Amino acid sequence: MRRSEPQLFVGGCDLFTRAHVIRWLSLAGSAIEENKDFLTQLDAAIGDAEHGISMARGFKKVVSQLPTMADKDIGSILKGTGMLLISSVGGASGALYGTLFVKAGNEASGKLMLDVSEMATVLKAGLAGIIERGRAQPGEKTMVDALSPYVEAFCRAGKGGASMAEALEQATVAAEQGVKDTIPMVAQKGRASYLAERSVGHQDPGATSMCLILKALAQAVS
Ligand SMILES: Nc1ncnc2c1ncn2[C@@H]1O[C@H](COP(=O)(O)OP(=O)(O)OP(=O)(O)O)[C@@H](O)[C@H]1O
Ligand SMILES: [Mg+2]
Repeated sequence: MRRSEPQLFVGGCDLFTRAHVIRWLSLAGSAIEENKDFLTQLDAAIGDAEHGISMARGFKKVVSQLPTMADKDIGSILKGTGMLLISSVGGASGALYGTLFVKAGNEASGKLMLDVSEMATVLKAGLAGIIERGRAQPGEKTMVDALSPYVEAFCRAGKGGASMAEALEQATVAAEQGVKDTIPMVAQKGRASYLAERSVGHQDPGATSMCLILKALAQAVS
């Protein structure tokens, strides 16, 4: 069967289309804006109190550019998003989120839709990009602690025959748990690592913003 891109696919199915990508980025932008103060409060406890402000600035820029990206392939939309985040978020998380989107975009180059297995490959590339860039492993109280269990759960669900929506739902549950799991961790990367043991008891801001962005993925196909 030839792969076309019927509008029908927006609304729950096994393919993730570029229309879903645009919807995802728009929902992620709203979630970041709504949680701007919360993210900044989390960063005030173990960082420099700007994570919400810088992420909201970055996603506002991305959302403003969505109309110019909607007719591009998924790879170009993701890479464009990554470049916008690098230039407008700044700091550690700007480079890390930028790398995530650029590496994921490279994997989706020229594609107008992704099936569950292609989506798994794209997500894995994004995670590998963040790890390569920031050198954080799971357990070090960073955004990796939300993304890594998410990607793992998505791949497990996909291999088990789950639909796109089911796999994204299961992955979201894993990311939410991953964020909670950062609370007792000792920060070993970024500004929070300067606090060492004093970072214990605080939820990681980057893992929290990552989870908000990942939650929007499931919402985009529901
Ligand atoms: N090496 C790393 N790998 C993965 N994630 C990291 C790393 N360093 C920091 N982070 C994530 O970035 C989040 C902090 O992002 P934020 O935007 O506040 O940057 P920052 O540390 O204040 O940056 P800068 O020091 O450049 O201003 C942390 O909560 C953590 O999740
Ligand atoms: Mg900060």
